[in-house]
Parts: sequence; C-alpha cells; structure tokens
Amino acid sequence: MRLRLAGAVLLSAAAYYVYLPLPTGVCEPWKLMLLDALFRSFMKASDVAHALGVCHRLHLLNQVVSWLEVIEARSSPVLHVTDSTLGGIPTRVFQPKGGKRMKRGIIYFHGGGWALGSGRMRSYDRLCRKMAEDLDSVVMSVDYRLAPEAVFPDQYHDALGAARAFLSSQVLERYSIDPQRVCVSGDSAGGNLAAAVAQELSSDDTVTVKFKAQALVYPVLQALDFYTPSYQQNQAVPILYRHYMARFWLEYLGADRSLESLLLANNHSSLDQPAIGASARSKLDWTALLPPERRKHFRPVLKETGTLGVMGVVPGLMDVRAAPLLAEQEVLGRTPKAYVMTCEFDVLRDDGLMYVRRLQDAGVSVTNDHYEDGFHGCMVFAFLPMMSGVGQRSMDNYIRWLDQNL
Ligand SMILES: *[C@@H]1O[C@H](CO)[C@@H](O)[C@H](O)[C@H]1NC(C)=O
Repeated sequence: MRLRLAGAVLLSAAAYYVYLPLPTGVCEPWKLMLLDALFRSFMKASDVAHALGVCHRLHLLNQVVSWLEVIEARSSPVLHVTDSTLGGIPTRVFQPKGGKRMKRGIIYFHGGGWALGSGRMRSYDRLCRKMAEDLDSVVMSVDYRLAPEAVFPDQYHDALGAARAFLSSQVLERYSIDPQRVCVSGDSAGGNLAAAVAQELSSDDTVTVKFKAQALVYPVLQALDFYTPSYQQNQAVPILYRHYMARFWLEYLGADRSLESLLLANNHSSLDQPAIGASARSKLDWTALLPPERRKHFRPVLKETGTLGVMGVVPGLMDVRAAPLLAEQEVLGRTPKAYVMTCEFDVLRDDGLMYVRRLQDAGVSVTNDHYEDGFHGCMVFAFLPMMSGVGQRSMDNYIRWLDQNL
C-alpha cells in the first residue's frame, strides 16, 4: 500500500514536471513535453553546477551533449564520411562514393545558440548523411568555435573562413564539386551564420565562385526586438523559450548575463537610443513587414526611454554580421535564391518571415516553407527516438527544395 502510494506520488510529480500547457495545434504535444522536460533538466543542472562554481553552465551542457550524442565518422557503402578541416576549421565531410560526374556541394552550419552542438552529433550526422545520399551531393558540416570560449565575431569568422575555403578551386576540385551548384545552409544559430556568410560572400568581388542558393532553417536574425508577435505568442513554448534566446544572444555577443532583463524589456532598442536610426528600425518593423495573419492582435513594445549606453557596451547588437536582418536592401539583393523555413510555434518565426519579405523586396526569389504545427528545432528531431512528424515532413521538404533548386 505504502509502495503504491509512493509510486503514485512519484508518478504525479513526474507528470507535473513534464506536463506543460501547450498551444493547440502544435505537432505531437506529448513528444514535445518530454523533450522539453529533458532540456529543462539539463538547463537546471547546468545552472546549479555553474552556481556552485563546478564549471561554466555551457561546458556542462556541451559535455552532456557530446557524451550522449557525438558519434564517430562512419563511412557507409554509399558514402565516405571523414572528419577533416575546411580553412582550418574542423568539418565533417560526407562524400558520395562512385559516379564520375560532378556533385552538388552544400556547406552546413549546425544550430545550438552559437554555444551548443556539433556537426558530429547523431542528429546532424544523420541529417547531412541523408542530404548527401538523397541529393548525391558533397555535404560539409562545420564545427565552428562555440561560446563561452569564442564570442562574436569568432563564430562568424570561422563560418566565413570555412565557406571561403569551401568555394576555393582546390576544395571544389578535390571533391569534384560543381562550382555552379553550391549552397550555404544552416538551422537556428547556424541559419544566422549561413545568412551572414551569404551576404558577405555575394558582395565580395574577390570571390569568383558564388553560392547558387541559401537555405535557412528557422534562422535567428535580429536582437533588437524581443516583442515580435512570435516572441510574444511563443514566449513559453518549448524548447526555445524567449529568455533562453536572450541568454544565447548575450553569450554570443560576449555580454554580461545581467543584461537579460534589459533585453527582455526592449530597453536596448528604446526610441531614445542614438545608435538606432529610422533606417535600422524600418528593417525590422514588423507592423509593415509581416502579413496581418501573423501580426494577429499583437502590439509593438517600443519604449520611449530605455537604458542608454548598452549599445556602446554590446555593439554586436547593431552589427549586421551578427544580425543579418539589419542588412541594406542592396546587399540583400545580391544574395542567392533563398529557402526560409519558419515554424508557427517558434519565437524566431518572425525573424524568418521578416527576412523573407525583405529578400523579396530586394528582388531575391524566396521559398517560404511555413509549418503551422512546427516548433523550433523540429527538423533535427526527425529521427529516432523523437521521430517528430513535423520534423520528418519539414526535412523531406527542405531536401526536396534543394533537389529542385540546386
Ligand atoms: C528600462 O528602462 C527604464 C527607463 O530608463 C527603467 O526605469 C527600467 O528599470 C529599465 N528596465 C530594465 C529591466 O532594465
């Protein structure tokens, strides 16, 4: 009896911990709740370790991730898979065996808030393997440096350096990659790096081989407005909570964590900030850039007065290499044909949707693949054990777009 009672208490405690009211319409809510419980536990554990002075919270998280997830480079009957370098940056290379003809080439940047993850993780390994097999293409998955050791612009420079090497004649020839069919891609923070790299390289006349396409999967593109409709609507939707995103930004930009509440109050982008002119504001003015069905009933949160001086302390907030949505229209107009995936239940949805609109205004051909039941990160949960339905659908459509456009 006592045992049964204890069991019941434990079970309800577990259910209480796991249970989370989710918005109706999100794909397979129970899977998302379990994923979230796992994530939150890791986050909590790393916060405790950090507070006790055991190690930096990001180190513990990355330890757990590599212990659970990092796998060896394994070749298969159809693919050579090796750990190599690209411009000195560690990179996992997936190369189809056989066939004489030139291959398509994709450089990929993984997600993880510029602080977590690796191209050697099982999920990214499987994604890149599938891309290489289904598209008969060479895929290079770049392990750029991570926060807290590396802060902006290190991640960006690593991504850019790897991309320059990728487009060099030595690399293209060595891997039999067709210079007319190369693409830059990434998800989340990796989508941020892919967008920034696409902007830089398409405007650089010294680079002769140009990307044919950019494929951005729920990218993060700006840090000035933490009250876009999607930030407001999805602030409590796992797995990327609104305050996690503020923390990732602060870590990336090498800023103090104590600025979190300031960012979350939009105090850094108040109307009295001298660093933010009307032109910069128009680039992320979602009241003009988003269609009414995404704006819904949400109102902008624009402070008359905020915390002055923060732009001096964290200049990266206004740096287009960190926030590609701030790019000028002429720069966007030079970037390649684009694919942008967005998810309804994602704080970053409107970063992506605003970029879609700005690319279109600049004359770039854009495919926006929007998932009404999608959540942030879904594409990398397409495989076992999660087997997310929307993850599988989105991955299939992403690969199909690449097949038809690269
Ligand atoms: C935001 O700025 C206002 C006005 O300067 C100030 O009163 C408030 O404390 C600030 N809030 C945060 C979270 O920094």
